[in-house]
Amino acid sequence: IAARLIVLVIGYFLGTFQTGYIYGKSKGVDIRQHGSGNSGTTNTLRTLGWKAGAITFAGDLCKAILAVVIAHFLFVNRYPDAVKVLEMYAGFGAVLGHNFPFYLKFKGGKGIACTAGVILTVCPLAVPVCLGLFIVLVGITRYVSLGSICMLIAFLIQVILFNHMGMLHIGADWIMEFDILTVCFAAMGIWRHRANIVRLLNGTENKFGQKAK
Ligand code: G3P
Repeated sequence: IAARLIVLVIGYFLGTFQTGYIYGKSKGVDIRQHGSGNSGTTNTLRTLGWKAGAITFAGDLCKAILAVVIAHFLFVNRYPDAVKVLEMYAGFGAVLGHNFPFYLKFKGGKGIACTAGVILTVCPLAVPVCLGLFIVLVGITRYVSLGSICMLIAFLIQVILFNHMGMLHIGADWIMEFDILTVCFAAMGIWRHRANIVRLLNGTENKFGQKAK
């Protein structure tokens, strides 16, 4: 329990570093007052341009990677069988911190750049399908949210598959917890996109490269 809490809290505080919000503020803009109201990469890019989007993506990606790497080095020797699970807790913490930063009245982003960092570090085997699906879907439909939601689902399916094939080297006692945690991780990401899902269904979702509706 203590190890889980430690990495979750470290992840949360790293995740609260709101790259998009801080970059926007440095330009005199509260990114959450514009576009979709989200403080992540897509809305920063939409509102402030490519450079802002790239910086936001890099910052949000790196904080999740950092959280996972810290969890890894803190516990790899003590709990080698469970270290992947603890890495996932750290990644989940980073997404929680990003989505619900305490100092911004818990109004942050949707955690997709952080999720990319978690996929890269916790389960790099899942990168090709997640990235490929995201690029193809966004390329065809221009809906970043659709690409993000499908990426989360693809991540969940692959992680559970690889886990049960023994490819993630998780001890038998931890397999169930890892699966449940990954389900929560994906479910939270999808739930954060609920307004996007409504817009996708009624055809009013913002398209990549267009001003927000
Ligand atoms: O990065 C989050 C993306 O999936 C959707 O962002 O701003 O269009 O709601 P947004």
